[in-house]
Amino acid sequence: MKHALEWQLEMGADEAIGDTPIDRYAVAPEPKKKAVAPTIDEPQKIDAVAIASAAAEAATSLEALREAMEQFEHCGLKRGAKQLVFSDGQAKTRVMIVGEAPGRDEDLQGKPFVGRAGQLLDLMFSHIGLARTSPDPAHALYITNVLPWRPPQNRDPKPEEVAMMLPFLKRHIELVDPDVLVAMGNHACQALLGRQGITRMRGNWMESKGKPLLPMFHPAYLLRNPIAKREAWADLLEVKARLSHHD
Ligand code: URA
Repeated sequence: MKHALEWQLEMGADEAIGDTPIDRYAVAPEPKKKAVAPTIDEPQKIDAVAIASAAAEAATSLEALREAMEQFEHCGLKRGAKQLVFSDGQAKTRVMIVGEAPGRDEDLQGKPFVGRAGQLLDLMFSHIGLARTSPDPAHALYITNVLPWRPPQNRDPKPEEVAMMLPFLKRHIELVDPDVLVAMGNHACQALLGRQGITRMRGNWMESKGKPLLPMFHPAYLLRNPIAKREAWADLLEVKARLSHHD
């Protein structure tokens, strides 16, 4: 200790500058953390659902909605897909069909339900006088999917992918404003009704986004299980009856 003081004197520290000694070994207060910009290793958590909601709500036309979806960069599926599959059919319609996600053919052509399942869908609805090509709103169809980009190897949609694209689907329904919705299969039911169980739910009118909604078997399921076409036929007649009761 004495040596230390002598050394300080030698260095010119020959007077005390404070009245009270300072204990330099006492615990120093935590320095305030500066806000640091996120780095690549530590990316900022992005609220993709909030971004999607804001973008979707700002769209005041179908064209603007399509553009907003084209610009949306937070869904990883976009990077694996060839293109956005937005919709097909007539926007002036009474019936809006919601499928799951594009497959290979849809990814190539940029339209929903253009492969084998789509051909069956067209055939089914033609039996009740509805077609995506009909310019007459009374006979028209409008078709879209929960996800606008093809999932790799046609895997099931992930809940986070559905959650971030759902605001766009909700806005899509508002802009088309159909009289009825038809949800094709479990994934469309999960997105629009928050639950699955198509075998029990099909054929029963439900409600989603303020619209009557009928769950139906997905046409791809019908291709694998043709026996279920009988139920699908009954469901088509349900749609027809609903439209004629609410002319
Ligand atoms: N299956 C779907 O759910 N949607 C399509 O567009 C094609 C197949």
